[in-house]
Amino acid sequence: MPKSNSITVAIVSQKGGSGKTTLAVNLATRAAAAKHESCVVDTDPQATAAAWSDWRGDFLPVVVTAPPARLGRTIESAKKNGVDFVVVDTPPHADAAAREAIKAADIVLIPTRPRAFDLAALEPIADLVNYAKTPAYVVLNAVPTGATKLAEDARKAARQMGLEICPVELGERADFHRSSAKGETASELAPDGKAAGEIDMLWKWLNKSLKKSKG
Ligand SMILES: Nc1ncnc2c1ncn2[C@@H]1O[C@H](COP(=O)(O)OP(=O)(O)OP(=O)(O)O)[C@@H](O)[C@H]1O
Ligand SMILES: [Mg+2]
Repeated sequence: MPKSNSITVAIVSQKGGSGKTTLAVNLATRAAAAKHESCVVDTDPQATAAAWSDWRGDFLPVVVTAPPARLGRTIESAKKNGVDFVVVDTPPHADAAAREAIKAADIVLIPTRPRAFDLAALEPIADLVNYAKTPAYVVLNAVPTGATKLAEDARKAARQMGLEICPVELGERADFHRSSAKGETASELAPDGKAAGEIDMLWKWLNKSLKKSKG
């Protein structure tokens, strides 16, 4: 059940480079395109989402930085300023940030590349979300074209840890990489491309899931 009228999505994964920031900025921008007042809260000391926002200039979404201990207050203050869709980006290897983000969230997305080391890194996150009881979904990211078996093995491994799998998966797409480097999103760089289509499907699935959890 959403904790208020606004939505908070936490993006967590222990593994570096799994696609947290890519997912955060693409989703928040998709939400802004759907007329939400969206905001990315960047809790990563590397401040990658904030750097993306600097490259981007004045275009939405707003990106603010916050250390984990300030996350709750930062989200509250964003909501008071009219924000209704918050995406929390987190650093890798950071229990405090992941824990706080999961605590604040209505839904948790766990981007994961379908590779053995990445899958092994799911275990501590599985423990955190199972403890917090926040709805959480593994989002397979950067799935190579034709890697059906690899993706199936990844889904199986995640299920064995008690994690749900998001039915929308993101392929390995140059549009994600190229757009981020320019302060854009895949949907802006190539609106008819496959990456844009995947973000669109993910956005629609997210809305449906949140509606369902509202009852
Ligand atoms: N689906 C994808 N297809 C192609 N490239 C991708 C995809 N997802 C992410 N990338 C690229 O992989 C790199 C790492 O992605 P990103 O920065 O989003 O990961 P991260 O989990 O935020 O990393 P960190 O843990 O360091 O914060 C970036 O160069 C990004 O452009
Ligand atoms: Mg990142």
